[in-house]
Amino acid sequence: MYKIGIVDTMNDKGIDLLKKNKKFTFEIITDLSKENLLKQIPKFDGITLRRGKIDSEILDKCNNLKVIARHGVGYDNVDTVSLKQKNISLLVTHNSTSTSPAEHAMFMILNIYKGRDMFDKMVREGNFHKALYLKINDNFELFNKKILIVGCGRIGRKIIKKCLGFDLKVLVFDPNLSKEDVSSFGGLKIDDLNEGLKQCDILSLSLPFNKETKYLINYNNISLMKKNAIIINISRGGIINEEDLDKALNEKIISFAGIDVFEKEPPSDDNPLLKNPRVLLSPHAATFTKECLEDMSEETVSNIIDFFENNLDPIKIVKL
Ligand SMILES: NC(=O)c1ccc[n+]([C@@H]2O[C@H](COP(=O)([O-])OP(=O)(O)OC[C@H]3O[C@@H](n4cnc5c(N)ncnc54)[C@H](O)[C@@H]3O)[C@@H](O)[C@H]2O)c1
Repeated sequence: MYKIGIVDTMNDKGIDLLKKNKKFTFEIITDLSKENLLKQIPKFDGITLRRGKIDSEILDKCNNLKVIARHGVGYDNVDTVSLKQKNISLLVTHNSTSTSPAEHAMFMILNIYKGRDMFDKMVREGNFHKALYLKINDNFELFNKKILIVGCGRIGRKIIKKCLGFDLKVLVFDPNLSKEDVSSFGGLKIDDLNEGLKQCDILSLSLPFNKETKYLINYNNISLMKKNAIIINISRGGIINEEDLDKALNEKIISFAGIDVFEKEPPSDDNPLLKNPRVLLSPHAATFTKECLEDMSEETVSNIIDFFENNLDPIKIVKL
């Protein structure tokens, strides 16, 4: 029998897979405090991990742990150096975690481009004809605009497809892809991030957070962007410097932002983006659709079962 820890909540569909499999017992850990994780994690052979930070101190105490299966694809909440030292495998979801985030990026772009809930409010408040007399300066067509997609993996490629449907021109900055790869997805590879920032009307981020990508987007390079430009971040907080973004929006260097992810989650009350009317916010909810949450929970749990049954598709294993 393998002992599995389900760290943080997940959809019942995934948990049902474990319930049905006689080779596993499991326990759900909802207290994500470091103190509790230090106490609980060492007793498991494998864990699934959604929120909750697994650092080197916790991993030092784990002598049975063989695998961590992330409920998702980002793994910035796990100390990968310790994982490697202890020969613990790290798995991610591969199939289930890109459609909803790509749709969320489109939701944010469309929402911002089409005036958010302004028209809805006018109709409800009895101001049906008010729109005729407004100067419509903040609503735009997507047709022929340029989007720069930074990070063109599973999510970025799905965003490209959707953008092409809206007749957007797609630029891609991703140093790990060739010009030919990018053009086969329908985009044009840009070698210099700053060049892409100068040209684009929409910047959309779909890349991992790590030492290299921390504050990749900051006041200096936002200053290169067009006045009408918008920034969408559905990848990870910390890739954008939030104070710099707030400043650039207040100084009207760019026009608007859609932010799903924050450097600290939940964001502190004094995070300036919470009060900035030129930001559309969501609570790290790009995967929060019925389909995505069901599929992610099933894929996460299947990954851990397949790992112990020696049946795992190697594409799910992170190369540490
Ligand atoms: N908001 C959410 O709920 C949510 C959901 C899923 C994923 N994410 C985040 O989105 C990120 C992307 O997910 P994915 O499944 O597309 O990952 P992926 O690994 O398939 O693709 C990431 C791409 O980013 C590229 N990249 C890496 N470093 C780069 C850099 N410095 N500049 C430009 N490109 C770079 C890689 O070459 C790769 O093509 C994840 O790492 C995760 O943190 C967020």
